Amino acid sequence: MRQMIPVERVFAHHEASTLLSPGIRTFKTRRSRITPTQERALISYAHYVIEMRSEPLSAESDWQMPGAPIVVEIGFGTGASTVAMAEHDQATALLAIDVHTPGIGDLLDKAGAAQLTNLRVMEADALTVLERMVLPESLSGVRSYFPDPWPKARHHKRRLVQPPIAQLLHSKLLPGGYWHIATDWDEYAESITCVMAEESGWVGGQIKRPENRPVTMFEARALREGRTITDLLYTKA
Ligand SMILES: C[S@@+](CC[C@H](N)C(=O)[O-])C[C@H]1O[C@@H](n2cnc3c(N)ncnc32)[C@H](O)[C@@H]1O
Repeated sequence: MRQMIPVERVFAHHEASTLLSPGIRTFKTRRSRITPTQERALISYAHYVIEMRSEPLSAESDWQMPGAPIVVEIGFGTGASTVAMAEHDQATALLAIDVHTPGIGDLLDKAGAAQLTNLRVMEADALTVLERMVLPESLSGVRSYFPDPWPKARHHKRRLVQPPIAQLLHSKLLPGGYWHIATDWDEYAESITCVMAEESGWVGGQIKRPENRPVTMFEARALREGRTITDLLYTKA
């Protein structure tokens, strides 16, 4: 049996965003345990990690990539597709954010092995990061692949694609910047289409699956279980 380590030994709590009603978060809070490999990666590759702070993100000081476009991924899971995308586009400064510590360990392990230089990682509520550390009109793109669908109607208020969050992202994107979303939940795809159609300042909708988007872990499971994948791309007008 694999040795598991209580996660509290390594990482801290997530500070909630004030964007949604008190207690409402877009992620499931879970107590997790990490493997020795993940723990080693969290220590050995800590130089990829950016801590929460009030100073804004900077391509120059955080990535040593002055002038590079910054793209944020919200909810990378285990990060296999994140690493592939970072390797594929080394001129982009990529910030990958998730709250799930074992996944952070997995991503750091892969990023370190690939010796990536254009990736930074945060263990935080991405909404808090966006509110606190991202200047207006400073992002080239945001990626949200297979955000939790929260299928029960009483949980829809936890969905990532909802008006206050769309408005926050819109304010942080450069003109022409994009929000790329993929989902395996048909009803969520319909809801995303409705929410984004109601929001002003966006153009876009459903697109053909981009070939350069690697299959994520959740996507692979959805395909095995026979669900349809929908990619949606919205650009700040
Ligand atoms: C269903 S999983 C998908 C993971 C991965 N993108 C994939 O396709 O395999 C959604 C992920 O989003 C993360 N997440 C949801 N809301 C978040 C938020 N506000 N900030 C950071 N991560 C979030 C969850 O912790 C979870 O790891």
